[in-house]
Amino acid sequence: MILEGKKIVLGVTGGIAAYKSAEIVSRLRRSGADVHVIMTRNATEFIAPLTFQTLSRNQVVSDTFQTPENWQVEHVALAQLADLFLVAPATANILAKMACGIADDMLSTTLLATKAPIFVAPAMNTGMWTAEATQENMKRLTQRGVRVIGPGTGMLACGDSGAGRMSEPAEIVAEIENWFTQGQDYRGLRVLVTAGATRERLDPVRFMTNDSSGKMGIAIAKAARQRGAEVTLVYGAVTQPLPEGVTCIPVESAMDLRDAMVAETPAHDVVIQTAAVADYRFLNRFDTKMKKQSQREITLVLVENPDVAAEVGKLKKPGQILVGFAAETNQLEENAEKKLEKKNLDLIVANDVTRPGAGFNTDTNIATLIWRGGREELPLQQKTEMAQRILDRIQLLRSGNSVS
Ligand code: CTP
Repeated sequence: MILEGKKIVLGVTGGIAAYKSAEIVSRLRRSGADVHVIMTRNATEFIAPLTFQTLSRNQVVSDTFQTPENWQVEHVALAQLADLFLVAPATANILAKMACGIADDMLSTTLLATKAPIFVAPAMNTGMWTAEATQENMKRLTQRGVRVIGPGTGMLACGDSGAGRMSEPAEIVAEIENWFTQGQDYRGLRVLVTAGATRERLDPVRFMTNDSSGKMGIAIAKAARQRGAEVTLVYGAVTQPLPEGVTCIPVESAMDLRDAMVAETPAHDVVIQTAAVADYRFLNRFDTKMKKQSQREITLVLVENPDVAAEVGKLKKPGQILVGFAAETNQLEENAEKKLEKKNLDLIVANDVTRPGAGFNTDTNIATLIWRGGREELPLQQKTEMAQRILDRIQLLRSGNSVS
């Protein structure tokens, strides 16, 4: 049951191969997947929605029954639910719409909205497949990361022989299973991630904090989960929704974070510390709201917080991989290397937070990965993408294959 628990949205468009999609649904189900089918109006001319409804045991969404107002709700729900999106058969028409971002029916609207990986299994007449327009569309789609299965070559329904035949259902399902198993390199590993900003309380209504949004840590927790890890996320103040399928432990201050990390570290194989931890806390913390004083100046005394990463570094067991982040404004690599040593880390992700597109509260980041024996520059990219590159590097370090 390779696809156990996976949610797959299958888009069926209007081609003669639509009948073969019934077998795709059966095979996906047998492999454990929860399948949701969206049919275009034309597809319903080739095969009845009831067939898919019976095989998938889920409501089939098709424009025949839904009014445009319904799309707005349904397309978002299905777009978000999908672990993977498959369009089979994919006609020249849907491929062209996808390439241009046209959203004029339920399927194209959902495809435009989804963040899930998309697979297409094209099926059309050879002339349509080889047409310059279709080939240009395919190029655009593959550049965007859409994966193409087939089409095969052979006798086509129209009597022509050549490329354009939809791949066999067994082959399509095998490709999908392959994709899920290949991407599962963290299965069996326990990953502990910290994210967000700590808050150091002065009184019940005031605290000292920083600009961290938790985006990087949450992206890492999500990516590790997708790659099969069992993930624990220790989080401070964050602006992002927490990931699903992850054990989440809230903390407020650096001291809370330290307690959580000391308790959790021994049970994890990989520890990734993205949290922006306050280096100091208030010496005095008031239990009631601090009142305005009569004098014009007041002095608040700060005392040093524990260096959580360094404490975690002391707990390090053989085989464990510890990863830290370094937020720097100058002498990036030199400072990061010092932190790598001081905190007994295996890898440090060094950010120059002064560069546009890097650092706190942005969707993108720029970083240098530094480990003993090598480094790798990660140019400006989405934090979600960077999360994957960091996880890739950790796997190389684990296997002892990491050279620059
Ligand atoms: N860190 C920590 N505990 C602290 C401070 C930082 O665990 N009290 C961790 C962060 O989660 C990060 C790494 O240490 O993984 C580096 O954080 P950074 O703020 O860049 O460095 P500091 O050690 O605080 O040094 P400085 O502020 O002097 O740059």
